[in-house]
Formats: sequence, structure tokens, C-alpha cells
Amino acid sequence: MKNYFEITGVYAREVLDSRGNPTVEAEVYIKNGIFGRAIVPSGASTGIFEAVEKRDGDKERYMGKGVLEAVGKVNTVIRESLVGRNVLSQREIDMELIRLDGSENKENLGANSILAVSAACADCAAKALGISLFKYLGGVNAHVLPRPMMNILNGGAHADNNLDIQEFMIIPTSALSFKKGLEQCVCVYHSLKNVLKEKNLSTAVGDEGGFAPNLNSDEEAFDLLIEAIEKAGYKSGKDFMISVDAASSEWIKSDGEYHLPKSDKRLDSKQLCDYWEKIVNKYPIYSLEDPMGEEDWKGWEMITKVIGNKVKLVGDDLFVTNTKRLKKGIEGNIANTILVKINQIGTITEALDAVEMAHKSGYSAILSHRSGETEDTIISDIAVAVNCGLIKTGAPARTERVAKYNRLLRIEDELIFTAEF
Ligand code: PGA
Ligand code: ZN
Repeated sequence: MKNYFEITGVYAREVLDSRGNPTVEAEVYIKNGIFGRAIVPSGASTGIFEAVEKRDGDKERYMGKGVLEAVGKVNTVIRESLVGRNVLSQREIDMELIRLDGSENKENLGANSILAVSAACADCAAKALGISLFKYLGGVNAHVLPRPMMNILNGGAHADNNLDIQEFMIIPTSALSFKKGLEQCVCVYHSLKNVLKEKNLSTAVGDEGGFAPNLNSDEEAFDLLIEAIEKAGYKSGKDFMISVDAASSEWIKSDGEYHLPKSDKRLDSKQLCDYWEKIVNKYPIYSLEDPMGEEDWKGWEMITKVIGNKVKLVGDDLFVTNTKRLKKGIEGNIANTILVKINQIGTITEALDAVEMAHKSGYSAILSHRSGETEDTIISDIAVAVNCGLIKTGAPARTERVAKYNRLLRIEDELIFTAEF
């Protein structure tokens, strides 16, 4: 039985993500032809402290975005060091990948090559054991289905419209099951489409499937969301709340002031904090993600003091799924929630560690997709495995987003009456 779980092969290839950019897919094999597979996602508004995504830079292929070098690392050094190891030893495998890379930010092998293999090992292990991935990763206590924080209106770096805020999300707060919450979100999504049509606004979508109209101001987006919620027959503030990802690290300029590129406004940290306080007092806000920039710890401290007891303040570019940065945040009473993106850190083990550290310190964790996604649905499994209760995976449109929701429907079915929402 011991040899049954021995890794016999590791193989990677270049495939495409949802933006038509190349990305790494890896397969990990054990005996009897059982194998696991994973594809890594890719961000657009990436944080400067994220682990490094290795791209070829060869302008002759895919405008420099090819990942053949990263693929090559999997097919040589990574394969050599993993063949013969037990695929069930996820932590040991991930530590070996970190050791092999040898850098602080995974720049040598690339977080894309490392994560593809790390996730493919988990997938293979679950298949070898004949259990679902969420059960393999989370054990017998994995049972909480996450509430979707559904991004239905896009701006910022994800859309060519005039909105500075990157994501306007709806979160179903009264639904009693994932299935019902998803259905309600879909109704609001379609309701928003009708609202936009009635106003002769564009219903073209951004990278994460949300609509991307040009509006008079970012605040108009909140009003449209509320109109869509009410017209779908729900009460905003009761059945639905609103979440925002400002992705404000995209705004900051070298003089330390925030420069909102589309509206051409300039604000210092205090003015930005005042703006968010006003938004939180005016609208039913559940969470604000990256309301301050990734290096503006003072601004973060200020906003946490002012509204940290009212809403979730989510560190995405701030924490980059990195326990060192999260620890600094926890010690400084900064933010109260971490966004978890597996490719920001590069191994499944480190992502699980980040969730664990957050939970132990009373912080929430939200599993998240990237704006460049694929058919891979491991984030749905991880969300249930860690019982974090929240997931960000885009609009219910575009198959790379819908695949995550469909995976959660299957997980909810598998858990039958033991599923909690
Ligand atoms: P990204 O955006 O995947 O382009 O980084 C998602 C986010 O900022 O949450
Ligand atoms: Zn974000």
C-alpha cells in the first residue's frame, strides 16, 4: 500500500486563461495511471508583494506572456525532486518546492510553476484516496458552504469604463443555503442587466463577468445595485449587502497621494478614509477590500480605527496571502479580514497557513479567484475545506466563474443535510 501513493511522474504544459493569456497546467501521476491536475490563475491588479509569476518575456510568442520557462522548471527540477515522494505529504512537498526555489518571493522557479504542482498534488491525493478534494484538504469537519460575494459591476483595471472602484459585489445575507443564495444573486444580476438597459447603459461585461457601464460617478454604481436588488424583489440591507474592492493600490502615485486615474481626483489618506466612512454610513456595506494602498499602513490603521467595527476591512494587496504581512497587520490592529489567493503565495500549504493564522486571531478569510481564471475549481474546495464562509469568484456569467459556483453546488449536494451556510 505504501508505494501506491508514490509520485511516478510530474508534467506541465502551457494552456490559456480566460483573458487568452498563457498559464501553467501541471499533472502529477502516481501508479495505476491515477493523476491530479491543476491550472494556475493570473491577476491584473496584482500586488507588488505577491510571489513572482514567471513569464518568458519573449516578444515573439504571446506578446512576451508565454510561460514555457515556468513549464520547463516543472518538467525538469521539480519533477526530479518530487518523483518517489508520497503524494499525501502535501506539506512536505510544498516545503520542498519552497526549498528548491530558494528565494523569498519564488522568483527562481516562479509561483506559477510551483502552485500548479502543489495544487495538482492535492488533486491527485484526493483522487488516490477516492474522496472529494474539499474533504481531503479539510477533513471530516469541512462543511461550511461559502456565501458568494458576487462581483456584478466592474471598473478599475478590469474594465475599460470610467469607474475607479474595481469591483461592486452583492452578498446574499438572508438565504439559508448556498443553492438559494446563488439563485438570488443570479436574479439580481439579471435585474441589473434590465436596469442598465432601461437607462440605455452598456451591458458589456468586464474581466470577471460583471457589467461595465460608464456612469456619472462611482456612487451611481451603488444606487444601481440597490435598484437591481429591490427590482428583483429583495430588500437591500436585509437580503443583500454590498461589498467593494477598491483595489486602491492601483491608484497610488509616487507622491504618496491617491490619484484616481479615471475621475482624475486626488486624495490623501485622510480624505480617502473620510470618503469610505461616508459610503459606509450611506449604503448597506458588508466589506471594503483594499480601501487603502498596499504600503499605506498608516492609512490602514486610521480606517480600521474609524470603521473597523462596522464592516469587514479586507487586505488583498496589503496581505498578499502572506503570513508575514498578515502577522504585521494583526499585531498593528490593521484590517480584520484577509483575501486568500493561492497564486499570491504559491503553495496550498502556505495558503492554508494564512487562513489558519487569520482565524486564530479573530480575522475572517475570503477565498478568491483572480481576474484571469480557468476551468480549475480548487478554490471552491479550499473554501469549504477551511470553513471560511466567504468566496469571491465573479459574476454568474463566463464559464471560468460559473465553474466555481457549479462546483459548490456539487459540494453542497455531497454534504446533504450536514452543509452549513
Ligand atoms: P486581480 O483582481 O485578480 O486582477 O488581482 C482581483 C482582486 O483585486 O481582488
Ligand atoms: Zn482585490
